[in-house]
Amino acid sequence: MTTAGERSGRSSVLNHPRMATGVDQVLHALRARRPRRRPELPGEPRWRPGFVAGDVGGPRLRLQEFGYATHELNRGHGTVDETALVGPVQILTPEGLDCLGEVCDRLEGSAGTARFITTRRVRSADLMSAFINNMIRDRGFLLACSRMAGVPLIPHPLRIPTVQINYFEADGRRDIVKWHHDGMDYVLTIQLNGYEDYDGGRFSYFQGRADAFTGARADDPRIKEAPCGERGATLFLHGSRIFHAVSPVTRGRRVTVVVSFFCPYFARQDSNTFWHLAADDGIAATVPNWLRLKWPVRDPAMDFSLRAGSPVITWEDLSG
Ligand SMILES: [Fe+2]
Repeated sequence: MTTAGERSGRSSVLNHPRMATGVDQVLHALRARRPRRRPELPGEPRWRPGFVAGDVGGPRLRLQEFGYATHELNRGHGTVDETALVGPVQILTPEGLDCLGEVCDRLEGSAGTARFITTRRVRSADLMSAFINNMIRDRGFLLACSRMAGVPLIPHPLRIPTVQINYFEADGRRDIVKWHHDGMDYVLTIQLNGYEDYDGGRFSYFQGRADAFTGARADDPRIKEAPCGERGATLFLHGSRIFHAVSPVTRGRRVTVVVSFFCPYFARQDSNTFWHLAADDGIAATVPNWLRLKWPVRDPAMDFSLRAGSPVITWEDLSG
């Protein structure tokens, strides 16, 4: 089905359509089915804390460089939540990458297709793989991600979208991945292949406000490509405020692992909308997750970490 948003996107921007919005999201939510859980992978590699690379400093862009005013951004603990894009960096060691790649290869048989957003994917990968579950709940991994973002981060308490594995292949489709911004605020993407493995598959973003994207054209100088050609290249993106897209893969295979995080201190400002989530997961699966997100807490760092099964990460930990 082609939506109005897709049609307008196709004619104006880089020949990539845009994802469904508004009424289309509600229709997708009514059709979406609760994702099925799969048994864990027997004999998969074991996660080790030493798989987190020591220094993950990298190029950084601030949201103000995308046109956002400082007063529009979250503040806490004397910090402005202003990180727009960091990377590419190597967050895992080569051995850690090899193991993650093996896990993703073994999960590929569980991958399904999504109706409107991307190529084949596995959602809730942390519910299927002890390796991935332990990776995203490893204190060192979370601290590295939090320091990239500049705010304390834990795995998102909405369980279904927490880790997604995307499998891109040269299948002749021209409509993946559509221009979109994420429902999630803090998104980390780990590339398991380098440019030697595939053609196409370039990650583009619009260096402007999300509300300025409509009408941008393919030759708009604000459309940039992130240099993610190296295997293991990892990008942090403030996904809800930045329009981005991936061009179709025309040769070979590209696999990415996408982790969605949550800042317990900015829970009230979390950008997820019920219908954005329900369009992917179905209404029945979204209701309990939504309650888990919106139920009041006394101590944000402690209470949301318990809900997410995560170590506690505080503001003080960022500087430690
Ligand atoms: Fe995205």
